[in-house]
Amino acid sequence: MFQRIKSKGTFSNNFEGRKSIGIIVSGGDCSGLNATVRAVTRHAIKTHGWRVIGFERGYWGIWVRPMQTVELTVEQCDYRWITTAGTFLGSNKNLGVPTFADRGTTFPDLHDAFREGYQSLGLSAIIVIGGDGSFRKLAEISNSCSENYPKNPINFIAIPKTIDNDVAYTDLAIGHETALESVISAIDNLQTTAESHDRVMVVEVMGRDAGHIALKGGIAAGADAILIPEIPYDIDKLSRHIERIFQTEKRYAIVVAAESVKTPGGDSMRSTIGAEEQTRYRGIGFELALRLKEKIAAEVRSVSLGHIQRGGSPHIKDRLLANRFGIRAVDLIADNQSGRVIIVSNGKMSDVSLSDVASNIQTVNLQGEMVHIAKSLGVYIGEI
Ligand code: F6P
Repeated sequence: MFQRIKSKGTFSNNFEGRKSIGIIVSGGDCSGLNATVRAVTRHAIKTHGWRVIGFERGYWGIWVRPMQTVELTVEQCDYRWITTAGTFLGSNKNLGVPTFADRGTTFPDLHDAFREGYQSLGLSAIIVIGGDGSFRKLAEISNSCSENYPKNPINFIAIPKTIDNDVAYTDLAIGHETALESVISAIDNLQTTAESHDRVMVVEVMGRDAGHIALKGGIAAGADAILIPEIPYDIDKLSRHIERIFQTEKRYAIVVAAESVKTPGGDSMRSTIGAEEQTRYRGIGFELALRLKEKIAAEVRSVSLGHIQRGGSPHIKDRLLANRFGIRAVDLIADNQSGRVIIVSNGKMSDVSLSDVASNIQTVNLQGEMVHIAKSLGVYIGEI
């Protein structure tokens, strides 16, 4: 059963001579986060005899006073940490802006609070499992700390996670493959109902400003059209493509649209949602269904897969990646490295500087293999 770990207040800095490292999960959750924390904990304790301090709810756990920490143990990190999505430590997408859950909390100067918390716990390094937003915040914190306290740097290693797979330099981030599994399984279900009712189904998937989920998920599930933010499309050409399919191939179609695709008129579909009043992409699937309905004779329906894409027991690839990234992070700390982001490139693990990763996002390569495959299959992917 999923159960969030609750901190017992501030962890004592009675180290008994043992090195201590911290671990934070930050940003949107996904599948494979607990498996990563488990790998870090087991390797740090079993190989090195270190202590591992988890912070609750992302950076919040180190920013608030008293800090919200929990000492992680090998016994605690049982198999559920491999099989369960989400994060037992909790996470937080609001990098400094208090949310509903933070009510009653007064945030101090965040950079100072991070440094002071890190030092007061006597940490030797901290591992941040996050996406591009969390990495930018980490870069800010670490830069401000090195400028103001050059003798007391914060040592850290970053591990990429995000269903969007938009972290620069790495072929894969934790959570992406499991999200793809959810997308594929949903589209498999939509294929049969679309076929039974001679309908066009428009499926909106997440991904923020990158089309990786839409493109890979759409190809793997046999979509007929895939719209991604990196490639403009023409609603008339999309309509003609669908009509051609109905006339010559089959009497149903699946259109996958990444959430940040613009409307035919060129607008972004955004909405302000939640107590945090943050703007999120939402609604392009429904909008496209309306626009297509005006142009084609067939019935059209839309489905937004939403946060379903963030759950599900981790896919084998995410389980292995979680272990590879987690072990590598501990190895880098043992090697006195800091400021590095772990990546996998062409199957090989390596690491790059946080400053490079934090200033970029990875979008779909228009000359890449996935675009070539979609085109070769006769999938409409826009005007390319
Ligand atoms: O970055 C992960 C992600 O799931 C995006 O794909 C999506 O746009 C966003 O987070 C949704 O954010 P929230 O969980 O705040 O609704």
